[in-house]
Amino acid sequence: MGEKWNKGLLGWIDARFPLSKMWYEHLAEYYAPKNFNFWYYFGSLALMVLVLQILTGVWLTMNYKPDAGMAFNSVEYIMRDVNWGWLIRYMHSTGASMFFIVVYLHMFRGLIYGSFKKPRELIWIFGMIIYVCLMAEAFMGYLLPWGQMSYWGAQVIISLFGAIPGIGDALALWIRGDFVVADATLNRFFAFHVIAVPIVLLALVVLHILALHEVGSNNPDGVEIKKHKDENGIPLDGIPFHPYYTVKDIVGVVVFLIIFSIIVFFMPEMGGWFLERDNFIPADPLKTPEHIVPLWYFTPFYAILRAVPDKFLGVVAMGGAIFVLFLLPWLDRSPVRSIRYRGSIYKIAIGVFVISFIALGYLGTQPATTLYTNLARFFSLMYFGFFASLLIIPRFEKTKPVPDRVTS
Ligand code: HEM
Repeated sequence: MGEKWNKGLLGWIDARFPLSKMWYEHLAEYYAPKNFNFWYYFGSLALMVLVLQILTGVWLTMNYKPDAGMAFNSVEYIMRDVNWGWLIRYMHSTGASMFFIVVYLHMFRGLIYGSFKKPRELIWIFGMIIYVCLMAEAFMGYLLPWGQMSYWGAQVIISLFGAIPGIGDALALWIRGDFVVADATLNRFFAFHVIAVPIVLLALVVLHILALHEVGSNNPDGVEIKKHKDENGIPLDGIPFHPYYTVKDIVGVVVFLIIFSIIVFFMPEMGGWFLERDNFIPADPLKTPEHIVPLWYFTPFYAILRAVPDKFLGVVAMGGAIFVLFLLPWLDRSPVRSIRYRGSIYKIAIGVFVISFIALGYLGTQPATTLYTNLARFFSLMYFGFFASLLIIPRFEKTKPVPDRVTS
């Protein structure tokens, strides 16, 4: 390792910095299972979208004004007067929703192939912290255009902290920096959105990938490729990440960019799912919109919050719905990782979980009528029921024999 490149400028650098060493360790000699499929595109895609969001974000910041009196108009200025400003803004707003689509699919892959199980618990935990940071990042970014939904969405969510007994009101006041969402709130959210949270996200992604490369990737069969190695210590079912998966990932990137461009150029509002109609109206602290609805990626949790009659318990349920995901590696104790070799009962449980999550996502966008609230209660129970069922399913589940080596 390294000797192949030890002349000239690279040799000079390598004697002072592990450049070639890192290239080999993490790309050219990182052996990944040879059976990665469709579901394995979303890690590299998440990385690409993160870079895209940072780049478009930096360029938006050049013309955006974090001031309650100017924010809305500065976004309109970017859309109408700044050269290519509309493109940068739509790439950033579309990128936010696409980030969540990619990350949800990435998490789902982890779920179906048991990638969170031993020895990959820390990869999952880092992933979950990334997910929570991503939610904070999106929530604070949404206040910046200072539209009606930005304003009232922030008002509703920050006021939830007020439900915490004892310290609630003081905490909400501390977060807002004022008695209502105001200029002070906008300024601090701007600071967090453009610098603090992105730094944390980048650092977490590095930790996420370091943890992955320490133990090696899982795969659709859920078998450990390190068990069978050749005389050079290379896994028999492994292939070098570069060039095999760098090239494969380019296919994912191209398909992603085609879909992304269609949305950015032809349907940037996505019928109100990616940019809400009420957010084209400037924030008005004196006029509450009829329905305050967060963007789609928060609505499953918003539905759980509204399903519980008591405000504080609603907040606990909503927090619990996210927290329980952290516990996944310790809830699901089945020795079989991949869904391919698990019993029908487990497959049904996953199906119920997916349906509940999507149903809650839809219900969270709708007005809280009696019917919808009852449905949200039902699906919330199903959501939590899934995690409870994981504790007992392995006791009577009929799993299939897991192959010793990857199958395809
Ligand atoms: C900014 C967000 C994220 C980025 C950039 C990212 C990046 C990656 C990359 C590049 C990989 C290796 C390629 C692959 O297996 O697809 C990976 C693997 C993994 N990620 Fe993420 N990730 C993110 C968020 C998450 C989240 C939110 C979770 C779960 C809560 C998660 C869980 C995992 C797991 C379990 C693996 C190992 C998968 C396996 O080996 O089968 N990641 N991630």
